Amino acid sequence: MLDLRQHWDRAVAVVGARIGGRTSGSASSTRGTDMTDELSAYVLETWVDEPPAGADLRAATQPLARRGMQIGTDQGRVLHWLVRTLGATRTIEVGVFTGYSTMWTALALPDDGEVIACDVSEEWTSIGRPHWEAAGVADKIDLRLAPAADTLQSLIDDGRAGAFDFAFIDADKSNYDTYYELCLQLVRDGGVIAIDNVLWGGSVVDPMRTDADTEAIRAINAKVGSDDRVDACLLSIGDGVTLATKKP
Ligand SMILES: C[S@@+](CC[C@H](N)C(=O)[O-])C[C@H]1O[C@@H](n2cnc3c(N)ncnc32)[C@H](O)[C@@H]1O
Repeated sequence: MLDLRQHWDRAVAVVGARIGGRTSGSASSTRGTDMTDELSAYVLETWVDEPPAGADLRAATQPLARRGMQIGTDQGRVLHWLVRTLGATRTIEVGVFTGYSTMWTALALPDDGEVIACDVSEEWTSIGRPHWEAAGVADKIDLRLAPAADTLQSLIDDGRAGAFDFAFIDADKSNYDTYYELCLQLVRDGGVIAIDNVLWGGSVVDPMRTDADTEAIRAINAKVGSDDRVDACLLSIGDGVTLATKKP
């Protein structure tokens, strides 16, 4: 049986190997402030002005067994800020679920803005639609019910490469690399790709986790972290979000 120290050493070795041998060396990381319930409530109260339709959509998602797939309100606010800051008019969402992240993104767009929203579930996305209507953003959301890789490829085939300002990837993890490569073609120079769940509940540093989803997340982290085509960073909000800006 490995003791705690041995587990830690193995985890560091695994992560070091997976980020191309770049172990910490001279780098350092500040441990973030622990998000207690009180602090979390303070952040939401002070920084997040959630529209009533957003709260209603979260409430409508609560009865679902898979409700944990929904991004947090604080993360929705970050996406909203980012889309606004980019001056985005056209965005892509890969993984809609009940449409909470889609709503935050659409709210940040101008009236003639467009979200191409990709998902395969009629059941889950139909829960979102009345709430998109209530938020006044339904007309901006073009929901495409098909495997996301097919939808993204069809956009490229239709001549829309470079036409998007922002993409948010939050669907099946095993296809993250495919989604990243397709979105990299679809966003303009200076556009941003956000990738969700890149810490995967901490599994990325657990040497015992070798399932396909965990390996896919490790692979995309290693790739984007050293990809010369983008400037990238990781935000440790929620389950970890990578932000990658496409270089000219
Ligand atoms: C983590 S949830 C998305 C959560 C959403 N961004 C939110 O904040 O509420 C993942 C979604 O990806 C969808 N999905 C899974 N495989 C897919 C595929 N091949 N193509 C498109 N969507 C897929 C699922 O139906 C599910 O709704």
